[in-house]
Amino acid sequence: MEKESQNLNHIHDFKNHGFDLESWLQTLVRTILGVSMSLFVRKPLATLVAESQETGEHTLHRHLGAFNLILLGIGAIIGAGLFVRTAAAAANHAGPSVTFSFIVAAIGCAFAGMCYAEFASMTPVAGSAYTYSYATMGEFFAWIIGWDLVLEYALGAATVAIAWSEYLNKLTEQFFGWSVPYEYCHSPFQSQTIGEVTTQGIINLPAIFILLVLTLVLVRGIQESAWVNGVIVFVKVIIVALVIAFGWSFINPENHTPMIPKPTEYDGHAFGGWKGILAGAGVVFFAFIGFDAVSTAAQETKNPAKNMPIGILGSLTICTVLYVLFSYVLTGISSYEEFRDPSRGGEASVTYAIATHMPGYDWLAKLVTVAILFGFSSVIMVMLLGQSRVFFSMSRDGLVPKVFSQIHPKYRTPWKSNWLFFVFVAVFAAFVPGDVVGDMTSIGTLFAFVLVSVGIIIMRKSDPNAERPFRTPLVPLVPILGALICGAMIFGLGNENWMRLVVWLAIGFVIYFGYSMRHSKVRLAAKGKAS
Ligand code: ALA
Repeated sequence: MEKESQNLNHIHDFKNHGFDLESWLQTLVRTILGVSMSLFVRKPLATLVAESQETGEHTLHRHLGAFNLILLGIGAIIGAGLFVRTAAAAANHAGPSVTFSFIVAAIGCAFAGMCYAEFASMTPVAGSAYTYSYATMGEFFAWIIGWDLVLEYALGAATVAIAWSEYLNKLTEQFFGWSVPYEYCHSPFQSQTIGEVTTQGIINLPAIFILLVLTLVLVRGIQESAWVNGVIVFVKVIIVALVIAFGWSFINPENHTPMIPKPTEYDGHAFGGWKGILAGAGVVFFAFIGFDAVSTAAQETKNPAKNMPIGILGSLTICTVLYVLFSYVLTGISSYEEFRDPSRGGEASVTYAIATHMPGYDWLAKLVTVAILFGFSSVIMVMLLGQSRVFFSMSRDGLVPKVFSQIHPKYRTPWKSNWLFFVFVAVFAAFVPGDVVGDMTSIGTLFAFVLVSVGIIIMRKSDPNAERPFRTPLVPLVPILGALICGAMIFGLGNENWMRLVVWLAIGFVIYFGYSMRHSKVRLAAKGKAS
């Protein structure tokens, strides 16, 4: 008995003077639970809607209508994907069935697009997929997606700026017989060997130049940006329509026979058949990136509930029709085997096909090069716009520093953010090869599409009675198919790109746990209520 009480005293001593294992364990479990629960803290839908209705000097201007939004969408969509990747996908994967690849990629985008439209009509705030996931899946996922969208928008802008630089050289060659020396329009990771001489890239100056010009336009104001974009979209659509209309009568049916090449191997991978079509879809997916950028301008839109779905789905539909016709004509004018030979067009495959197979249409070939330069500019501009708007929202939520949401007193644009992203994007455009940033753009976008599709299913369960001016049909089938098709395309991008995504997300986690978590306004508000 005495011994027992001695033992108990021991334990009490231990508790009083040293380490209390039991309460330590309790605290630990409480902390872990608390942290993991708080990772999923959600921004209430009502707060989002209220924020979107705020007015005042710290808010963005609301003046975009449905037509402006469609223009914004087309401005972001038609670019390097159509003019560069169509021929590449035909040559390497699908042959003339690249037309079907466009249809497959369009279906994946349409499913994800409907989910975007539902969210954008419900939560008309700037920030796109980031904002939606904050309301549905909680802060941690919102952070992941906001961080991931940098891949889509910022690196997307860098990719197209690099393509712009290549086409600028084609243009100056065509018109003036001069081009920027190789080392000043390529990254240090690229080189070219002519005869005995190897030239190493140093910096891509034209890419920096176009980013600088477009950043200046963006800082000047959304109204001006929308106007510039409208003009460019007009030129771009006319050119695509002219190629389709004039090219139609030059289609050689032999080039389309068979429409789906027999499955074989080319350059170490599958070519033709269904596999070729799917691989081609992964490549031409890049051509559709951008329709979701429409949703980033929700806070600058009049009557977003009605106009957002029209903007997103309208621009996607118009581009799909143009793409299918364009790819049909291009592979009809020229055989896909020609596109395998870099000396017969390479990047400028469209110009080559017109100049070689459409006698009397040299003027069109030249016009296409000019239009492509304009077309790429509008893609870059909308991507930069989307990026600054996503970080605008994240900054208002406290997840990234305030500087990203400071509005210019006169122009009412997030100008400091525009300049910071100019520096960030320019570094990638100047020093990283186009295919690397291009694939990172695609994987980032596809990942966002998957999360938005899943988000719709969650939102229907968590907020079944919220007002939905636009409803995705056949939920959960459509979002599930959207996530699956986009997931399949992620799979197709290969493990090097998966690793890049993982590294990018890991950097994001460090920032989230180091900064964002402690500055999150939703989290601080929740703490305030609790205490
Ligand atoms: N869809 C855009 C393009 O093709 C990114 O350039």
